[in-house]
Amino acid sequence: MLSGKTVLIGITGGIAAYKICELIRMFKRANANVKVICTPNAMNFVTKLTLQNLSQNEVGIEEFEIPDFKPEHISYADGADIMVIAPATANTISKIANGICDNLLTSVVCAFHKPVIIAPAMNCNMWQNQAVQENLKKLAAYGYTILEPENGFLACGYEGQGRLCALEKIFDAAVKKLSQQKPLEWEKIIITAGGTIEDIDPVRYISNYSSGKMGIALADTAYSLGADVHLITTVSTQKPYVVEKVKSAREMQNALDETFQNADCVIMAAAVADYRVKQQSEQKIKKTSDEEITLTLVKNPDILKHLCEIKTHQTVVGFCAESENLIENAKEKISQKGCDYLIANDISRKDIGFSSDYNEVSILKKDGSIKKLEKADKYTIARQIFEEIYG
Ligand code: CTP
Repeated sequence: MLSGKTVLIGITGGIAAYKICELIRMFKRANANVKVICTPNAMNFVTKLTLQNLSQNEVGIEEFEIPDFKPEHISYADGADIMVIAPATANTISKIANGICDNLLTSVVCAFHKPVIIAPAMNCNMWQNQAVQENLKKLAAYGYTILEPENGFLACGYEGQGRLCALEKIFDAAVKKLSQQKPLEWEKIIITAGGTIEDIDPVRYISNYSSGKMGIALADTAYSLGADVHLITTVSTQKPYVVEKVKSAREMQNALDETFQNADCVIMAAAVADYRVKQQSEQKIKKTSDEEITLTLVKNPDILKHLCEIKTHQTVVGFCAESENLIENAKEKISQKGCDYLIANDISRKDIGFSSDYNEVSILKKDGSIKKLEKADKYTIARQIFEEIYG
């Protein structure tokens, strides 16, 4: 049921911590990848070895143990689809509600931008404490799911509300949240579209026939799949996601410089001019008696190549417009640019490509494999491209 999903379980220091061993097994039985982090106090109630064996993953307790280039709390936060904090003590609830990050667990929640379920468990008087209730209200308003504790006999000897809710309730709430997730939810995707415009003088420019339709179809599709989309385009368009209008190749590069580090994926569907005029004229160039004039062009930055050189974790996808020897040229281009995927289209055909609503492309992968997509409307092609990239 949950294969491909990672559930991050946060255990805090309450007696109900022992029950979480069974919760881990429930998620494991549903084929989820389970990661566990604990507050240091939780270790008074369960052992690291037990949790490690049940989850089949390292258990995180200490901050500042850095497994890869990312700080540990960011790795945990980025690597899971949902976080379940159970049992959540009054102490941890109050820290999270106030943005306090003084251990691994509270730091991870602060950096976590996907659904968080909190299942409190504590003494009934602590549960009724006004500060705790105010903090829970705050968390609910921030979008956290709070699964209230149940009434009953408490480990401290009291009778009242404070028992951890049924594990099935926690499990079902997590499954429900995960099933509502869209496949590209939380992916930050930048897409470029349109042909760049390189001014010659105030009334003339060099550009190309790119309509921006493929890039916009990709951006619309990514948005409908839940992605956080940033469209950098030379074509004006109004969308429910971020649209940044640019004109020249250098403006497009500046827009990418500002946004690239925080992106998960960049798709360069724009037709970027390879050259611009060396000296843009401030005034309109007047006709003279000469039969010829010369425009000197200088090279524009190769944006795609540059992104591939500086990329860390991003998936970088290029497009390749060719009028002859499509696959041969595309193979050379993917290795020369160094991108993860290259979408090759044949611009010599009138029924597809530039200005058309249809396309027929081949997707080249870094590993040398090639997948041909049959002719289809650009939205179908866009969806198939995302299926290929995100599996
Ligand atoms: N591209 C880029 N910067 C450039 C030129 C192209 O980022 N200055 C990107 C395009 O957005 C596209 C890919 O590189 O994703 C390939 O573009 P294409 O025009 O097919 O190739 P070029 O590198 O320009 O090579 P050529 O024009 O010689 O085919």
